[in-house]
Amino acid sequence: MGAGPEPARRPPLALPRAVPGWGESVDEQWPDAATVVDHVGVPHLVVTRHALVRQVLTDPVTFRPDNALDAVTPLPVAALRVLAGHRFRLPPTLANNGGASHPEIRGIVADALHPHRVAAQRQWLTGLVRERVAALAAELDAGRPVDLYAGLAADLPLLVLARLVELPDAPVGAVKDFARAALELFWAPLDSARQLALAAEVGRFHTVLREFAATGGGLAARLRDAGHSPDVVVGALFFLLVAGQETTSQFLTLLLHRLAGEPAVRAGLRAGTVAVDDVVEEGLRLEPPIVTWRRVAAADTMLGELPVAAGTSVVAWLARAGRDPAVVGAPGEFRPGQPGSRRHLAFGAGPHRCVGAQLARMEAAVVVAEATALLDGVTVVRPPWCPDNLTFRMPDAFVVRRA
Ligand code: HEM
Repeated sequence: MGAGPEPARRPPLALPRAVPGWGESVDEQWPDAATVVDHVGVPHLVVTRHALVRQVLTDPVTFRPDNALDAVTPLPVAALRVLAGHRFRLPPTLANNGGASHPEIRGIVADALHPHRVAAQRQWLTGLVRERVAALAAELDAGRPVDLYAGLAADLPLLVLARLVELPDAPVGAVKDFARAALELFWAPLDSARQLALAAEVGRFHTVLREFAATGGGLAARLRDAGHSPDVVVGALFFLLVAGQETTSQFLTLLLHRLAGEPAVRAGLRAGTVAVDDVVEEGLRLEPPIVTWRRVAAADTMLGELPVAAGTSVVAWLARAGRDPAVVGAPGEFRPGQPGSRRHLAFGAGPHRCVGAQLARMEAAVVVAEATALLDGVTVVRPPWCPDNLTFRMPDAFVVRRA
């Protein structure tokens, strides 16, 4: 088969090129931790080693999560006005909540995403993926190119989420546009004109969420009944709608692209000698959709041998931690089941560890099991393109055709 560009030859640790000093230095030579000044002159302590990343993530007293959703490009007054016009607020709820309310809010969300409830969606999802795969295979058979992002990965996670959590009645496309706008507004290097446009998009949907938060059932009602303010209910729904579907869409796309360049793994899946779950874990390790996650030092402290001043923004480089030779034998190679493969930090660690990990893994397992065969004998017409972003990969398309 003629797979497209060899994924292993792409820059494997795509940190944002628009942040001067980061992109160029993204290679084997990084120190365990290093201060990097970003595109607006703010210094961050970038932590690259698995043990140190873990230390940061599992100690929320010293390394607080308060800055998790801060805009990396400060919002200009005009964009803030647009957001304020939509009564946009992001109080501490989940990922950015180091306070006393976090365990309860997290518990309510975790109930909605309980492993039993996730497992109950598997059969339905398998049926849907089979239908999609059959339609895509027919297109490929007819000699036409197919976009596996648009045709498979983009909406599946949102459709599953909507079966688990009551969500506002909005078209899939509107939710996707809003979520991608939010990831760009808060995590990308931007100019002010773009910030204004994104603020309008994010603000519009925030209004929809605010109305739903006041009247919606399910999770929204449970948060209201537990006494949380409307701002908290909106904030929790906001994060869930972004984190709970866009991340997984991105991962499915990146993983399928990776598998297109891994014929031996596909052959192993076909023969039953490679386990689907091992492929998913190795995919999370090598192609995590979230490459970094931020914390802020609450006090003067030490990280390894390095003094860290209170207030320092700490960037935990999750993608790099997954390739730490201290943890995994063949860090750059896609070897499902290799020792250390599952020790990646793609879902974070500690009290804020991803609450949707089980759901994301189930979705990825179904897609790997049902859709990998589509990649046999294809050429990559258009590999995923990932824009500059501190944290999210955000691939836009993945087009293949039969060779
Ligand atoms: C492959 C897909 C996914 C990846 C790679 C991912 C990754 C992450 C990461 C890195 C964090 C921060 C962890 C930390 O601070 O230590 C996080 C938090 C979170 N994720 Fe995910 N996630 C994914 C899918 C999902 C899904 C499907 C949902 C829900 C439907 C979800 C809901 C959440 C929530 C609610 C939090 C905040 C947890 C807290 O602060 O207590 N994620 N995720």
